[in-house]
Amino acid sequence: MTSIRNYVPFNENVEVQQPYEQEITQKIVDSMARVNKLMYEKYRHAIRDAHAKSHGILKGELQIYDKLPEHLSQGIFRNPKTYPVIVRFSTAQSAIVPDKMSAFRGMAIKIIGVEGQKLLPELADAMTQDFLLVNYPIIPTGTIKEYLKMQEGLESQAQNGEFVQKIAQKAAVGVQNVLAAVGLADDTNQLSAPGPHILGDTYFSMAALRYGNYVAKINVKPLSENIKELSGKKIDEKIIDADENAFLTKIISDFFEKGTAEYEMGVQLCTNLETMPVEDGSVQWPEDESPYQPVAKLIFRPQLSYSPERRVYADDVLSFNPFHCLPEHRPLGNIMRVRKLAYETSSLYRHHMNVQPLIEPKTIEELPD
Ligand code: HEM
Repeated sequence: MTSIRNYVPFNENVEVQQPYEQEITQKIVDSMARVNKLMYEKYRHAIRDAHAKSHGILKGELQIYDKLPEHLSQGIFRNPKTYPVIVRFSTAQSAIVPDKMSAFRGMAIKIIGVEGQKLLPELADAMTQDFLLVNYPIIPTGTIKEYLKMQEGLESQAQNGEFVQKIAQKAAVGVQNVLAAVGLADDTNQLSAPGPHILGDTYFSMAALRYGNYVAKINVKPLSENIKELSGKKIDEKIIDADENAFLTKIISDFFEKGTAEYEMGVQLCTNLETMPVEDGSVQWPEDESPYQPVAKLIFRPQLSYSPERRVYADDVLSFNPFHCLPEHRPLGNIMRVRKLAYETSSLYRHHMNVQPLIEPKTIEELPD
């Protein structure tokens, strides 16, 4: 294991403001907001600017491991406590498209019962903290400059009316190729390739965050044998054919009729800002220089994972936001900083248009069954 003296200490200088950062940020968020308005007109219901479609909403527990060494015993991971969590599984498109159109998948985690002042002033006293993860180790558009190019491309397709099909197809080809290249998906290279079982994926923060006295990326990977077995496993063709729109929802519900799933949360600490940059999220931090080290276990017991009440609560009432956290887990780097305005804008619009309150739960009982 890497010796503690090699971990880069957190200080304000690990982040470096980029040229024209504010202007680029505003352009990205304005473009996303215009697309989101088009989506509202399409559905007459406001959806998320990204990760619009949910597939499962789970009640679970996060058990922080006991006796973590000093370098891992940071922020929320300082005490061996068990927290209730709400998890929303999603796919990344900013439109509601058939599940058969492959895309990055999201795992948003809301931890309940977290003491201490939170980073966002409007949520400073909330008893929650969020982690947002995607089933890929890096963000390919790892700087705001690159992200803006991609976003402008998406918007021009949205304007010409073929948006839904085109982004879905682009996502399918692009994602399938990158996932296949790292062995996370099959290599069919088909537009309609649906990807492997959603519960068997490993999910990553993709970009850096503060980890108390250090700087890290985090992940959540399958731990119990029944979940490890699903990693890379093709989804049964019969299930896909039976409902191309919603088979991801079905395979999650089927699993949790009787199954219990365990995942492990891990932390990859930065040991070198050259090879593990904070300001470029497209660089994969080498695991031979610093492996993911386990810090907690996530457990989900049998439950109804997609009741109508749960869907409405998770899609329309809740928001997950990477900046809703203890200051010790603040997101870092320009691709993270842009998210501050992006999530606020998307969430405010959605809540306003759907006339829904934005609620941070105080207890897990607030999640409907
Ligand atoms: C850097 C890695 C990133 C990860 C791991 C990530 C992950 C996620 C996840 C899991 C969700 C779904 C949250 C939910 O279930 O409510 C989400 C939503 C969203 N993401 Fe990201 N994302 C990333 C980068 C970005 C960037 C760079 C932007 C924009 C510039 C962005 C904009 C959004 C927006 C607007 C939403 C919807 C927020 C809402 O309406 O509540 N994300 N993201």
